[in-house]
Amino acid sequence: MQNAKLTLDRDFVIGPIDPRLYGSFVEHLGRCVYGGLYEPGHPAADEDGFRTDVLALVKDLGVTTIRYPGGNFVSGFQWEDSIGPRDSRPVRLDQAWSTTEPNTFGLHEYITWCRKAGVQPMYSVNLGTRGPAEARDLVEYANFPGGSYWSDLRKQNGAEAPFGIKLWCLGNEMDGSWQIGHKTAQEYGRVAHEAGKLMKWMDPDIELVVCGSSASDMPTFVDWENTVLDECYDTVDYISLHRYYGNPTGDTASFLARTVDMDAFIQTVAAVCDAVKGKKHSEKTVNLSFDEWNVWYHSGQQDEEVLQKNKWGRALPLLEDVYTFEDALLVGSMLMTLIRHADRVKIACLAQLVNVIAPIMTEDGGRAWAQTIYYPFLHAARFGRGTSLRPLVASPAYDCSEYRNVPYLDAAAVLHEDGGVTVFCVNRSEEEGISLELDFRAFGELSLAEHILLHHPDVQAVNTADDPDRVRPEPGPGGTFEGGRGRVTIPALSWNVLRFAQK
Ligand code: AHR
Repeated sequence: MQNAKLTLDRDFVIGPIDPRLYGSFVEHLGRCVYGGLYEPGHPAADEDGFRTDVLALVKDLGVTTIRYPGGNFVSGFQWEDSIGPRDSRPVRLDQAWSTTEPNTFGLHEYITWCRKAGVQPMYSVNLGTRGPAEARDLVEYANFPGGSYWSDLRKQNGAEAPFGIKLWCLGNEMDGSWQIGHKTAQEYGRVAHEAGKLMKWMDPDIELVVCGSSASDMPTFVDWENTVLDECYDTVDYISLHRYYGNPTGDTASFLARTVDMDAFIQTVAAVCDAVKGKKHSEKTVNLSFDEWNVWYHSGQQDEEVLQKNKWGRALPLLEDVYTFEDALLVGSMLMTLIRHADRVKIACLAQLVNVIAPIMTEDGGRAWAQTIYYPFLHAARFGRGTSLRPLVASPAYDCSEYRNVPYLDAAAVLHEDGGVTVFCVNRSEEEGISLELDFRAFGELSLAEHILLHHPDVQAVNTADDPDRVRPEPGPGGTFEGGRGRVTIPALSWNVLRFAQK
């Protein structure tokens, strides 16, 4: 057993946690929409064809915001294809994922689904093959009350009241050569500014997310942010970050330390935003939208085989990563990284929601279940509400092949409105538990109300339709806590939620 100490004070404030930090992402990709959210004819489908078993899992997960309809998909998408009577919507070939898109689930279905799931919409416009005019028309269709061509068409299509979509993404990963309509930073910055300008003229209450780099290891990272923001700083409200991690070599120690990279990524993007702010003598702060993040590496080979066999197929089983217990630990650490940057990261989307690199899996016509990564997200979305506090952590650390001096104990802390406190932590050690000393003397009388633990002796353990509960949370060992001080046991390789309540 190793010793570590965590000190917390109500004055160690990072910032308020925006509920949109617990967003997710639904793309027209694989079986995310078709066979995931939407499957008319499924025994659990409701009157709209939405799977109610999936809806129940989504609600339990606590997701707040859903980014849609892509992703790479959006850069070739014509939003007008997705409205009007279903049987007259065109069937299109999606070049992003080499798939046939039937458009039977579109804008109205998305809004209806969001309302049923109790989540806020976050809609991306196509700045790959299209531009400012189509983006403006879409805002008019969605948000204008009536009396104009597009708003009246919305009414004719059955939605009398505006959808009121308040959060919009200006394209997707426009820095990537794989993107339909890939652009240079200057080309993209200009078009993002013009599109954003027309969109805000249509609805001044909307907020806009401009595309940052698709990953921190893109060769254009930093120059991209700098140039794009130089073109559109005054128009946009957030800049996006995307990051996926994997462990193809089975190096658990390095894999669990990947948030060192994520942390630096966030700090660098915030610094670039502030540098452009300074250069422009602007009063406005552009914040961060980490709108694609997750583990993604299990499905690569399988995807190639699926596409070889069935290019241009429908609802193909693509990006169906089956998540291990180890992946859940990194997802927990990624969530804590977001919480520790709550002052700048206001929106984040776990990519994606169902079947495609997702916490929820389904069988076509059959069962739905929670993957390992479902649980840390559920805990953070449920208990990570309030004010993010900076925990002072004194922990032994380790060196691994990719990083040096990585603390074994990774932690984040949240002060709730009712005076309660939640501490999340991961023990990255593969061998030893941690005896964690707690010093919360500044909080008055707290009691340790609950210790939730996610642990499995096999890092490769997964949940499947036949064995959906192999990895699931259980009560943790807890410890002692009295007079603002205590000691708890944090088992080796574990995700923990320590909930403290006012006495
Ligand atoms: O989430 C899967 C894909 O990853 C998205 O379509 C794209 O934006 C990213 O490269």
